Amino acid sequence: MRPPIQLVYLICFNIFLEKCICKSEHDQVLSITVATQEHVDTVQNLTSHNETELWQPASPIYITTNSEVHLYIQSTSVEFVTELLRKHGITYRTLLENTPALIEMQTKNDSSDPRSGGVFYERYHSLEDIYYWINKTKQDHSDMVKVILIGSSSEKRPLYVLKLSGRRDEVKRAMWIDCGIHAREWIAPAFCMWFVNYALAFYNQNTEITEILNNMDVYILTVMNPDGYKYTWTTDRMWRKNRSSNKDSDCFGADLNRNFDANWCTKGASDNPCDPTYCGQFPESEPETQAVARFLRSHKDTVKLYLSIHSYSQMLLFPYSCSYDEIPNHNELFEVVKEASTKIRRYYRNNYKYGPGAKTIYLAPGGSDDWAYNFGIKYSFTFELQDRGRYGFLLPPSFIPQACNEALLATKIIALHVIKKL
Ligand code: ARG
Ligand code: ZN
Repeated sequence: MRPPIQLVYLICFNIFLEKCICKSEHDQVLSITVATQEHVDTVQNLTSHNETELWQPASPIYITTNSEVHLYIQSTSVEFVTELLRKHGITYRTLLENTPALIEMQTKNDSSDPRSGGVFYERYHSLEDIYYWINKTKQDHSDMVKVILIGSSSEKRPLYVLKLSGRRDEVKRAMWIDCGIHAREWIAPAFCMWFVNYALAFYNQNTEITEILNNMDVYILTVMNPDGYKYTWTTDRMWRKNRSSNKDSDCFGADLNRNFDANWCTKGASDNPCDPTYCGQFPESEPETQAVARFLRSHKDTVKLYLSIHSYSQMLLFPYSCSYDEIPNHNELFEVVKEASTKIRRYYRNNYKYGPGAKTIYLAPGGSDDWAYNFGIKYSFTFELQDRGRYGFLLPPSFIPQACNEALLATKIIALHVIKKL
């Protein structure tokens, strides 16, 4: 039976009303189409408003004509921002309009929370949980796992690297994976945990991971930026940098992926401590950067593959990001990521762009991948995991398995290629 027309009206009106209320009640994420130079200026201006947070691109300096900007806006400024966009004739659409619900979905899954559903690796974890997990993993797999303290963060939290080794004689090669260099990219630490779990569970079951672990040790830094990560759980979900204090400024933090010694602080980075891509006081000024660089320097003879995990935008990148120069082994790396991207499309029906960082996204100097490459690790990659902006940094936990499996597939392809070549 069809409901009377008045009832339909009433329901529609209520939904409409509720939507209106929601809109002004909640923080939102807008996708803004920047067409002209005037739009560029307006939107760049908006990003300095302290109730907005730029999601994409990483810094206002990257906003250009004919680009899509993803902007997070606090509830109290939604009206102001949308009015302003309309006034300037800038088109936009709402990507997310109930961010608190999404944040709740991401955090209630913490294992200290009895409401949490799903299995351990299909949730996001607090920093405390991750420290606990590192210790537990070592205890449960003492034959394959060692924990190495490589340094501490600016707020003095330990930086632990898990070393995974197959059950075989010592080998001379190794690969490195770091996750969570940027605080808000929660899927990254989730991937590091996923990888460790997979490697330990499927060693001697899955031929590829067995081949990898029989030929290489794997060093995994699950959270490269623990202070920032902690801060995203407690205070500001959208924080990117670390949390070091800056001389002569009230703004905190440096972008660890602009703090490495690779064309440091040139175009594509900022020398303003208040910017999201602040390069720091000097190359390796940050303890987290220094800890990673030192560790790799002291393992120069063994580490043949460097991998850094970020989100979001679905890309498989290799050097350079700090210049438009082509690296000597460009074709080889290009073919590998192309294969990885093709297989991800085939198995998971998902698209990943691939190529050198500067040409594929933007000039971004001071990155870990470029530094590692120049240092001598000729297989050096940055992955940008899911998604392409639908949920952005607020990727719901239900997406973790596929996001991680896509990255795992790419990791396997690259690692096996390196083993074959060396
Ligand atoms: N979205 C990443 C960033 O802004 C890109 C990383 C690519 N590599 C690089 N060295 N910038 O840091
Ligand atoms: Zn990142």
